[in-house]
Amino acid sequence: MNIRLATVGNLLGMQACNLQNLPENYQLRYYLYHSLTWPQLSYVAEDHKGRIVGYILAKMDEEPSDKSHGHVTSISVLRGYRRLGLAKKLMLLSQEAMASIYKAEYVSLHVRKSNRAALGLYRDSLGFDVHSIEKKYYADGEDAYAMRLKLSTTGTSEQPPSK
Ligand code: ACO
Repeated sequence: MNIRLATVGNLLGMQACNLQNLPENYQLRYYLYHSLTWPQLSYVAEDHKGRIVGYILAKMDEEPSDKSHGHVTSISVLRGYRRLGLAKKLMLLSQEAMASIYKAEYVSLHVRKSNRAALGLYRDSLGFDVHSIEKKYYADGEDAYAMRLKLSTTGTSEQPPSK
């Protein structure tokens, strides 16, 4: 498995992976916007045939605020490739770039309250905390946890999680 920076040529593969894994989908131009604006923050995992089996689509916050922070728009890994550590690696690479290139103080994301696998990844494996609950954040009415992780200059958590 090869994990590397996403290029514009990977955007269709990332979109296809997203469509298979999540109900939150985006137009291709939104992927392109991420890739052109923050080319160092989105990564892909590809198999030996060059097929995209996982991705992280990430950006920097666009609202003026006192603290610079990164945001994970979307991450997913195809079913046959899960529990291999791919998502964790994708997250760590993007976090590291947010901290080192953009001096991000923290990284944020939204996740469904019912998403056990993703909560395991964010909270248990990476050390994110729940910052707030956004009621009916998703189109079907489900609440989101707005989660955050404070970054050190290397993009890792300042306080390492339990594993
Ligand atoms: N149940 C509990 N904990 C889990 C699970 C699970 N099913 N999957 C991962 N974890 C936790 C574990 O702590 C795991 O470490 P371990 O395997 O040593 O126990 C750790 O996360 C790292 O797991 P990875 O192997 O890196 O995760 P994976 O590559 O399987 O991808 C992901 C996890 C992205 C959540 C995957 O299950 C997926 O694509 N799900 C569907 C799409 C999705 O829900 N994406 C996130 C939406 S929120 C957002 O995009 C901001």
